[in-house]
Amino acid sequence: MQEVPPVQVPAIIQWMQNSDFGTGIRESVWTFPVVETTHVLSLAVSVGLLIWFDLRLLGWGMKHQPISRIHEQIMPYVVAGFVIEIITGFLLFWSEAEKCYVSIFFRAKVFFLFLAAFNAIIFEFRTKKTIEDWDKFPIPPPPARVAGWLSIVSWSAVIIAGRGTAYSLF
Ligand code: HEM
Repeated sequence: MQEVPPVQVPAIIQWMQNSDFGTGIRESVWTFPVVETTHVLSLAVSVGLLIWFDLRLLGWGMKHQPISRIHEQIMPYVVAGFVIEIITGFLLFWSEAEKCYVSIFFRAKVFFLFLAAFNAIIFEFRTKKTIEDWDKFPIPPPPARVAGWLSIVSWSAVIIAGRGTAYSLF
């Protein structure tokens, strides 16, 4: 049987993992668990709130609430959650950069993170322009529904891939 060649890990990734900073996070009894717990709690705030907006975009939840008001009220918390998530994500990555670099789950997570971010940017700068016109309708127009579906699918994939990375499945 042919042997699978080992993945070449770039020097910067090795340097991150072996730096005092990375080693300190990884080997501390408290730091890694506290950072990872914060990562998960901020995920609960950001994705946990965003799902309500996505359900409203699909016309499945809060149908009679003006969608522009929901957007206005939840977004500051959603953005704050994502900022904390990205900071803690980078700290976790720094501490186990080699494991993440070779992990198929981590690569999938990065792919879906970009997809989710792309979807959010298109929504914020294009689709949302007419949001106030949808306030009176229980079901928003098709482009808004597509954005809702893409958001649910891509954030779910990010979470599943995040769990896969944590368990070192691949
Ligand atoms: C912004 C949205 C993000 C979501 C929804 C997310 C989700 C998750 C989840 C669910 C876990 C598993 C936690 C556990 O099992 O205890 C995780 C772990 C992790 N995440 Fe994220 N993450 C995000 C962003 C990031 C970013 C931007 C990075 C890196 C640059 C990152 C790096 C990591 C690392 C290194 C782990 C730890 C894996 C391990 O325990 O070995 N995450 N993330």
